[in-house]
This record gives sequence, structure tokens and C-alpha cells, in this order.
Amino acid sequence: MFGRRTNDPAAPRRAAPPPPVAAPVAKPVEMKAATAPASAAAPPPAAPKVESPVEAQRRHSEEYYDVKTTVFNALIDTIDLTQLAKLDSAAAREEIRDIVSEIIQIKNVVMSIAEQEELLEDICNDVLGYGPLEPLLARDDIADIMVNGAHTTFIEVGGKVQKTSVRFADNAQLMNICQRIVSQVGRRVDESSPICDARLPDGSRVNVIATPLAIDGPALTIRKFKKDRLKLEQLLKFGSISAQGKTLLEIIGRVRCNIVVSGGTGSGKTTLLNCLSATIDNDERIITCEDSAELQLQQPHVVRLETRPPNLEGEGAISMRELVKNCLRMRPERIIVGEVRGPEAFDLLQAMNTGHDGSMGTLHANSPREAIGRIESMIMMGGFSLPSRTIREMIVGSVDVIVQASRLRDGSRKITHITEVVGMEGDVVTLQNLFVYDITGEDANGKLIGRHRSTGIARPRFYERAQYYNEHERLTAALAAAEVMDEDGNPLGENHG
Ligand SMILES: Nc1ncnc2c1ncn2[C@@H]1O[C@H](COP(=O)(O)OP(=O)(O)OP(=O)(O)O)[C@@H](O)[C@H]1O
Ligand SMILES: [Mg+2]
Repeated sequence: MFGRRTNDPAAPRRAAPPPPVAAPVAKPVEMKAATAPASAAAPPPAAPKVESPVEAQRRHSEEYYDVKTTVFNALIDTIDLTQLAKLDSAAAREEIRDIVSEIIQIKNVVMSIAEQEELLEDICNDVLGYGPLEPLLARDDIADIMVNGAHTTFIEVGGKVQKTSVRFADNAQLMNICQRIVSQVGRRVDESSPICDARLPDGSRVNVIATPLAIDGPALTIRKFKKDRLKLEQLLKFGSISAQGKTLLEIIGRVRCNIVVSGGTGSGKTTLLNCLSATIDNDERIITCEDSAELQLQQPHVVRLETRPPNLEGEGAISMRELVKNCLRMRPERIIVGEVRGPEAFDLLQAMNTGHDGSMGTLHANSPREAIGRIESMIMMGGFSLPSRTIREMIVGSVDVIVQASRLRDGSRKITHITEVVGMEGDVVTLQNLFVYDITGEDANGKLIGRHRSTGIARPRFYERAQYYNEHERLTAALAAAEVMDEDGNPLGENHG
């Protein structure tokens, strides 16, 4: 039968078959009561199913893993994986199905049709995909997958982190899958190079840190790529921003303010940057610089650049700083830096300062004030021997607006500040909140209640710019409509909350 290994010793075998987990068990293995012959199998379920508690229980059963190991090892010994790799996924599954059914009969494994289907699905996932991760990868509602060693996997759904019943046979299987993921982008992860960033074919961002650095087994973190990235419209629907806030963001993007999106890990910075980039006109030349390409710009004139880590000999790295510097020679109209982490902050500010209005970047900080401090320290640590005051003046001359994203304790993501960089008072950079989010309470389910509002500032610093783009009336109307008055009829100011 096609797909079986030939006796030809020259026939290549697949380089990294997944998890040979334990020694094969030769004796017949029994799983619960048999209800049907193995060959009467129905086609595998196409879509991932929600696990019932019974299924979850079975997934945990050692017995199941023993059977799977037995069948899996027999399959690997039987099948010609190089030939299999040439088939499309449906044909390969069919081939595996035939052989697994035969193995089950030959080994005298007793199992129900449902069990056989589950086993088949698991084995196909192991051979053709990412093993136990497959059902999680197939779900679109998951934001992050966090594997902490073979037996513990968490996911983030709807802003909440929860434990799953997904487990790997052992750390070797997990490591094998990590290896398979990173090898697709030409990288390697092992004890000698235990940290690796990679990307799945669908664009999901992957980080692996292996033992001995990860003490309890390899840690794999996946930020799932969303095919349909959230748009400002959806952020409005989720309550992450109000209608007036949305208008304000659209105007800020449109009138070419230089924007820094600030936020903590997973707070929605990249999503927000993507939303803001949607406000850019179609005739502008945009250059994006990212560590791992995540942005999905819809404009026709975009050049996407990505940094490169060093190769196995430790050479050939291209840093973000080099990319941003190179950008300036590419006649950009807008420069977008996915995440500013280091000395490239200096080059981005330079770009913002020298005619590339409307450039944008994200950085990791918990408030607009902290974002200023972060930029300053990134530049200082980059070895530029500039006095603090000069750096601050540079920031004031470059950054127009800071948009703060936050993931609140109830799991919801909000835009908590739209803040202007106004100027300097003495040695201090002055900021002015235009738009804020106040938490006003908490409902019985622990969900936070709050409101977005403007702070009573009618003429932001970029007002003239808005006038130039004929957006000033919309700007004034949005700010006025978002005011919240106190008992005396005065708008609540910047720090009320
Ligand atoms: N306002 C929002 N409402 C609901 N989900 C959101 C919102 N913003 C972002 N998300 C989701 O949260 C997850 C993290 O978002 P994103 O990648 O933008 O965060 P980040 O701050 O860039 O993270 P990191 O620090 O890891 O780069 C994504 O799955 C995204 O779809
Ligand atoms: Mg991000």
C-alpha cells in the first residue's frame, strides 16, 4: 500500500518524527468495553469540539496514553513518512486512518468507535500537525496559549486566563513539537540555544524557552494570530472606547499626529496600532518595522520589514535600530514601529522630528507618564551621551499623543488615556489628558463599571493641525459631547475619577 515504508535502505525517513514516548507495549491493550469493530470508523470531526467533562477525563487517563503510544509507535514503524509528507492533509489523514485501523486490529486493542476516532484525531495531529495543541490552535476565540511543561496548559479566552485539560505525553513530545514549530522558520531550539522566537504559518507569534532555563520543562507561549484583526468599530462594540473616543482616535491618526501606544503585556497595543493605522490615507507610503510581523495594514503602499535574530554561529543579526535607520532612506511618509524596546527609540523620535509626521510605535508602560520615562531610559541605555533635558526636549518635539491601553482586573481591555504631550515646565515634560476612562464601580459578577469622558479641554495642542485637515469641527464636537459635568455644571477635569 502506498505510504508504507519500503525496504529500500536509501529511502529517506522523516527527520524529526514526533514523540516516541515510551517503549511499545506488545500485549493486547484494553480500553473500557468494546462496542464495535475497529474498521467501522466514521470520518473524523472537522471542527474542534468543546470537550465534555467525560472527554476531558479520558484525555487525562494514563491508559489512553499507553494505547496511543503503542499505536503511534507501530504506525511510525510502518509508515513511510517521506511519502506521507507528499500527500495533502486529507489524503494523509485517510492513509493514517487505514493503517491505524489495521494496527488496532492486529494488536487486538479493544475500543469503541468514539475512542478510536479520538485516538485517530490525536495521532493525525501528532504526525501531521502540532499534536495536543491542534484543537487549541483551531479555536478562534483564544488569544494566548501558554504551555508550562508537558502537563500544564493555560489559555486566555475573553480576557480571562484558564487552565485546560490539554497535556503532552511528556516533555520530550512537547520539545519535539516546539522544535517542529521553530524549524519551519529555519531556527533551532535545544539546550545550547534554549530561547527562540518563531511564527506559525498562520502568523501566530511563538516563543519557546527550553530546559535548563525553564526549570519545569519547556515553556511555549503562542499569541494567536487573529485573521480578522479587531477594528475600531469592534473596540467600540466591546466598550474598550466610546464613540467620541473613537472619533478622537480617527482624527489623531488622520491629521498625522505622532503617536505612541503605551500599555502592559497583552493589553492590546498591537491591536490598537493596527486600528490607528487604518486611519492612514491610501496614497501614503508606509514602512513598518517589527520583530515579528503582526500588523495587518490594508493600504496599497506598504513595505513591511522584520528584524532578524543571529544565526546559529551568532552572526547576521539585524536589529530594530538598523531597520528604523534604513527606513529613513526609503522615502517613508509614515514609519510604524511594532514595538520600541531599545535604542531605536532615538531613531524613531528623529524620524518623527524630521518630517515623517504621523509615525507610530508601541511601548511597554503602565501610564502615559511612565511611557515618557521609558523612552528616556531606552535612549540613555542605548549609549547616547545626551543630557536628560535634551532627550526630554526631543520627546516633546516629536511625540504628539500617547494612547494608553490597559487590561483591567476583570479581563476587559480599555483605552484608558488619550494624552497630549504639551511641553516642558522646568525639567519636566508636561502632559495633558484629553480623554480618560474612570472606573466607577463593580457589578455583582465582578465586572468593572466605568465611563469614558473628555476632560473639558476644548482646544488640544494639535487643533491647528486638525484645522489644516478640516477636522477641527469634528474634533471640537467629539470633545464637547464626551464631557461629564459635576453637580455645579462644570466639566470633570483631568484627575477626577
Ligand atoms: N479592546 C480589546 N478587546 C478585546 N480583545 C482585545 C482588545 N484588544 C486586544 N484584544 C485581544 O487581546 C490579545 C492581545 O492583544 P495585542 O496583541 O494587541 O496585545 P499587545 O499589548 O500588543 O501584547 P504584547 O505585549 O504581547 O505585544 C489579542 O488576542 C487581541 O485580539
Ligand atoms: Mg504586541
